[in-house]
Amino acid sequence: MSTVQGAGVVVTGAGGGIGAALARRFAAEGARVVVNDIDPGRTKAVADEIGATAVPGDASGIVDEAREALGGTVDVYCANAGLASPGDAFAGEDVWAAAWDVNVMAHVRAARALLPDWLERGSGRFVSTVSAAGLLTMVGAAPYSVSKHGAYAFAEWLSLTYRHRGLKVHAICPQGVRTDMLTAAGSAGELVLAPTAIEPEDVADALFEGIEADRFLILPHPEVAGYYRARASDPERWLNNMSHIHQKWEGTGQ
Ligand SMILES: NC(=O)c1ccc[n+]([C@@H]2O[C@H](COP(=O)([O-])OP(=O)(O)OC[C@H]3O[C@@H](n4cnc5c(N)ncnc54)[C@H](O)[C@@H]3O)[C@@H](O)[C@H]2O)c1
Repeated sequence: MSTVQGAGVVVTGAGGGIGAALARRFAAEGARVVVNDIDPGRTKAVADEIGATAVPGDASGIVDEAREALGGTVDVYCANAGLASPGDAFAGEDVWAAAWDVNVMAHVRAARALLPDWLERGSGRFVSTVSAAGLLTMVGAAPYSVSKHGAYAFAEWLSLTYRHRGLKVHAICPQGVRTDMLTAAGSAGELVLAPTAIEPEDVADALFEGIEADRFLILPHPEVAGYYRARASDPERWLNNMSHIHQKWEGTGQ
């Protein structure tokens, strides 16, 4: 029997892309699913397709409504909604604030709403869709890279703080995944992400392997482990390599 059979699962940003793939997979594994997206039409379409409950709205404030829809308990919360947030240091304050709000604070707010019940019961699962950019970086996308580092740091902090009290945390850190977000990433996405891009369903497979193996760090692109090691062991070399990629991107005229 699947680990998540009968579990109450919430997936944010599930109106398409990776979130929809996660929601479909949880439903196929026998979970009771709440589909959230800021776009009500997309939320309803995915929920109807998989027999889930639609809870549209900003991912920052849906835990109470989702919990009620699931009969009082959220077993698994997938903090998946995210903004691509391209731009450099000169990106507007609004772009930086939105990246921080959706990519980091929505996770913090969800954790605040979930932790009291999870700690009392001694169980709960928090799945954070971060990005390889949260371990490494993404050329041409400073607000995205910085906020995804924040999302990774928060997932890590949750895991080490509450694992002895029954909380399971998973941080999914893919490179390119063929979704609307990758299309919207433009020339930087085409240069850096598209050549090794995978399907949203591959991300769901990687998450389920990670759940079975009880692993925090989920790498749908296994090669990211090597890049992460290289960044830590020789930062100068890693930065020089990344600078070459950045310059190549500049050369495309963007
Ligand atoms: N596509 C990639 O290459 C890639 C790579 C690494 C990580 N990710 C991450 O995966 C996650 C999902 O992205 P995707 O690629 O499926 O993109 P996507 O654009 O297909 O899906 C993101 C969904 O989030 C929704 N959303 C945005 N803000 C929201 C909010 N405040 N509340 C609720 N929903 C909101 C959007 O409406 C959209 O349906 C994101 O966190 C993204 O950063 C994507």
